[in-house]
Amino acid sequence: MKTYAIALLPGDGVGPEVTAVARDVLREVGDRFRHRFEFRTELIGGAAIDTFGDPLPPQTLEACRSADAVFLGAVGGPKWDGAPPRPEQGLLGLRKALGLFANVRPTRVYSDLIDRSPLRREIVEDVDLVIFRELTGGAYFGERKRGPTFASDECLYTTGEIERIGHAAFAAARARRGKVTSVDKANVLETSRLWREVITKLHERHYRDVQLEHALVDSMAMQLIRQPRAYDVILTENMFGDILSDEASVLGGSIGLSPSASLGATGPGLFEPVHGSAPDIAGKDRCNPIGGILSAALLLRYGLRLHHEADAVEVAVEAVIRSGERTADLGGQLGCRAMGEAIIDELHSADLPRAHHVQMHWG
Ligand code: IPM
Ligand code: MG
Repeated sequence: MKTYAIALLPGDGVGPEVTAVARDVLREVGDRFRHRFEFRTELIGGAAIDTFGDPLPPQTLEACRSADAVFLGAVGGPKWDGAPPRPEQGLLGLRKALGLFANVRPTRVYSDLIDRSPLRREIVEDVDLVIFRELTGGAYFGERKRGPTFASDECLYTTGEIERIGHAAFAAARARRGKVTSVDKANVLETSRLWREVITKLHERHYRDVQLEHALVDSMAMQLIRQPRAYDVILTENMFGDILSDEASVLGGSIGLSPSASLGATGPGLFEPVHGSAPDIAGKDRCNPIGGILSAALLLRYGLRLHHEADAVEVAVEAVIRSGERTADLGGQLGCRAMGEAIIDELHSADLPRAHHVQMHWG
């Protein structure tokens, strides 16, 4: 029996609720597939500020570095909106410290939830896209300045930073439908002109078999809701990816369904739902655990390379959605815990699925 060390960072808001469910899903996977998961829970974000005055305490970072994979709930909330440090610095610091340059955010639309989408059926049916967001560069990590009457955030990218996320996106496209849409603002920004040049060259040198198109981010924001089916892999820089991934997550009916993986060249990956801390419903057992559970599936697939196990979790989620179970964000009554238990029960009793889909290559 193999043992895997998983660092759990519940964080703030609904983070602890979804993390508890994700942990129990992983436990069930461990039982069914005979793996041992050893969990170590540490503070991050606002919770860590309250205890240590530091959104990323050294012992949290140490636990992450020595883990095989990291699961994070969410960080942030109105409580810490005043003076620095901010909870978000914990997450940004962790991404940087672990070298997690590739943020992978898949969006798919479940046919049973199509009526929950704000868009018409014929637009969202069969949408299956993934955003590759560069995660450790750009304006998020540039030099910040503040004077009495001005402020600035430097946006800087190097060729090396663009190349490595480009490789990841092209390789993923090869294992999917073979198309990359690279998003920039090359009509205005110098970083975007560099981005376009580097991606174009990379494509010519190594990925001629993949179809590459370029899009400007403003137009992309529009096309993503006009014809989301046209996209396979969307590749973009940090800030554009932050914005477009929230937009993409509503296609399927709720941001509560969306998972994400943040990966580096080596070392543990970080897996977290896209939804954030949702302070308005925190502690009420009202949030949707599916984004967290699907992030646990990504942890199995990309973090631990346990592909069958990841498939089993995704199939169980789909089965429970098909059976009509719904949390409040999808117009239902089920609490976070009860939804988690429904999925765990399904995982417990279902026939183990065969590997049924194309795997995305990583590394
Ligand atoms: C995300 C979040 C974070 C980001 C925040 C919490 C710092 O919005 O993961 O998309 O902007 O990257
Ligand atoms: Mg975001």
